[in-house]
Amino acid sequence: MEFSVKSGSPEKQRSACIVIGVFEPRKLSQVGEQLDEVSEGYISNILRRGDLEGKLGQVLLLHNVPNTLCDRVLLIGCGKERDFGDSQYKKVMAKAITTLNETGSMEAVCFLSELNVKGRDIYWKVKHAVEATQDCLYTFDTLKSKTDTARRPLRKLIFNVTTRRDLTLGEQAISAGLAVAEGVKFAKDLGNMPPNICHPTYLAEQAEKIAAENDKIDCNILEEEDMRELGMGAFLAVSQGSAQPGKLICLEYKGATDPNQQPIVLVGKGLTFDSGGISIKPSEGMDEMKFDMGGSAGVFGAFVAATQLDLPINLVMAVAAAENMPSGNACRPGDVVTTMSGQTVEILNTDAEGRLVLCDTLTYVEKYDPDVVIDVATLTGACVIALGAHASGLLSTHNPLAHDLLNAGEAAGDRAWRLPLWDEYQEQLNTNFADMANIGGRPAGTITAGCFLARYTKKYHWAHLDVAGTAWKSGKAKGSTGRPVPLLTQYLIDRSQSKSA
Ligand code: BES
Ligand code: MN
Ligand code: ZN
Repeated sequence: MEFSVKSGSPEKQRSACIVIGVFEPRKLSQVGEQLDEVSEGYISNILRRGDLEGKLGQVLLLHNVPNTLCDRVLLIGCGKERDFGDSQYKKVMAKAITTLNETGSMEAVCFLSELNVKGRDIYWKVKHAVEATQDCLYTFDTLKSKTDTARRPLRKLIFNVTTRRDLTLGEQAISAGLAVAEGVKFAKDLGNMPPNICHPTYLAEQAEKIAAENDKIDCNILEEEDMRELGMGAFLAVSQGSAQPGKLICLEYKGATDPNQQPIVLVGKGLTFDSGGISIKPSEGMDEMKFDMGGSAGVFGAFVAATQLDLPINLVMAVAAAENMPSGNACRPGDVVTTMSGQTVEILNTDAEGRLVLCDTLTYVEKYDPDVVIDVATLTGACVIALGAHASGLLSTHNPLAHDLLNAGEAAGDRAWRLPLWDEYQEQLNTNFADMANIGGRPAGTITAGCFLARYTKKYHWAHLDVAGTAWKSGKAKGSTGRPVPLLTQYLIDRSQSKSA
């Protein structure tokens, strides 16, 4: 897909299609009125006849509109003008894209970017239009033997802006939007890939490929032997039941002018399949546990986006890749392991494996002398119960970092919501047999998982994103969402622009 911005009047566009918004009830947007005037009331006549009320997501495709130079005019219902916010804008954009793609317009000039979205500027509107476009054109059909692609797919999209002054901002927004979209696609592809193909070794190969293509990136992969030497007893306990070797996959990007500047470290849970292990999960819906590497897909995606934007920051990605399987070699409920930090853990439930691979990885990344560490994980079913699919769970011991992440999520349309990490919850991890148990009972499951991780992150500023409810969708539209790539990328962009970065 090719994107560009321009500033011009609708009737002068020589294009296969121009896209115009209509508010409810039958109220043309400003450009719509302009077009209606030159066409001598052609459009308003149609609206008056009742062909399009303007309800959110309604569409009407017109041909041969008088006194215009375009082949078609696509009218899109935008709902009530005063309700027009972020989510309406994105819905309308997605509807426009799918309609264009299905009706044979290979290029279009889109005037929806001129609509007023509450509290948003032209940069935001163009960036999100690009992201929404790539998001709704995404398909995962590499493993289908026959694919049904559109006969005349949309190839080129031009966003119109009101003034020439907005052109530079619009162009910057396109590059940022494309980078986020690239990262989201990367994450979706990893997530959707089946677990027999996407195993820890596959993830390691992806990292090696990324490093091979960029001089500023180094790749470093720890094998199980290396982990044994480092004393990563918790990580190894998870991976020992699987025929697939676990890997700790690190990418280091040096983009800051000062190569010694403390890096931002992103840690991802990369369970390429989580059967639960000996504490095995019920079989219904177990296929979805291929998405249990969603946290690592998210940090991979953000890494791809940040390096594509060539951000002036130092960035490290560390992915804890393993498969959680039952077998004669698997760890048992009751096993006690020693972590790299020296703390011991009683594994009461082998299905609480994410925190086990993460705790050793979080200790390992101390060696980078991080500025901040953000881990991302599909960690708890409890987070899906608490927040559903709309927000990722955020837990942090450092308020400024928590606020930066909440703001980034708000700006990126990829929101998080904070839960507390009060000391009182720590008691739920008590056990008679080790320093801590790996589960804290049913109450506040997302928080006690966070409490567990907090015991391994005392040496730096840390935040944890639980993406169990946001990283993928179930049901008919089953698939990876690419979240929280938009949030993380926005955070990295923000950090690259602040002096402290
Ligand atoms: N990967 C799962 C969490 C999960 C479950 C995410 C369902 C999305 C949907 C994690 O490894 C897990 O199994 N967690 C357990 C923890 C429990 C045993 C304390 C859970 O949430 O049930
Ligand atoms: Mn599990
Ligand atoms: Zn898991």
